Amino acid sequence: MAEVVIVPDAAAAGEIAAHEIEKLVRRKPDAVLGLATGSTPLTTWAALAARHLDLTGVRGFALDEYVGLPVGHPESYRAVIDREVVGPLGLTPSLVHVPADSGRIETAGDDYEVAIDAAGGIDLQVLGIGRTGHVGFNEPGSSFASLTRVKTLAQQTRIDNARFFDSLEAVPTHCVTQGLGTILRARRLVLLAFGEAKAGIVADALEGPLTASVPASVIQLHPRVMVIVDDAAASGL
Ligand code: GLP
Repeated sequence: MAEVVIVPDAAAAGEIAAHEIEKLVRRKPDAVLGLATGSTPLTTWAALAARHLDLTGVRGFALDEYVGLPVGHPESYRAVIDREVVGPLGLTPSLVHVPADSGRIETAGDDYEVAIDAAGGIDLQVLGIGRTGHVGFNEPGSSFASLTRVKTLAQQTRIDNARFFDSLEAVPTHCVTQGLGTILRARRLVLLAFGEAKAGIVADALEGPLTASVPASVIQLHPRVMVIVDDAAASGL
């Protein structure tokens, strides 16, 4: 069973997650972090930045990326990771990878797996959770053994993420995402979720059956998981 930490708000959760990352980096200055996008990890990055650690040796692998956005698009996860993580935390840009960085979609999945393996694997993977139960962009139906690959986005996810784009039509239809098997191979997982809208899916992921219908339920298979939720997101537990 995952270690579940219930806190009053997202700021408190960010402090706890930042503390876990700080402990890792003090022990291993070239630690490999798995980086999530979305609104959920923002308080973690803010709390970590406030600690003014030297993170220049830390290596990073983003969970996912849209397919089809022009290079430099502000909502591409490359741009989001640079703006919200690399800059504020003082990471070394060349050490932070995003799927399909090379632009070669056909080989993006395999290339990413090779790069993660070459880095020695991910030490700590930060995760949010989508309302469909997705982690990364592993939508319902994703295999628990899946590796990084191209996927179709669920319509609910496109609707949820349309707020970052001019219209629903502007939201990409496809993505490249680390697989659930990739995520399982990280040595440690820290999953965060906030707000009432996540309460149902958090309960399903943590206490429901292991099922590809709830991709985040895969975390029940991982031996070292910390789940940090606010009171609202914990209300279904
Ligand atoms: C996005 C991302 C996920 C993220 C999730 C939740 O679509 N691809 O990695 O965890 O949806 O987003 P948010 O944290 O904004 O609720």
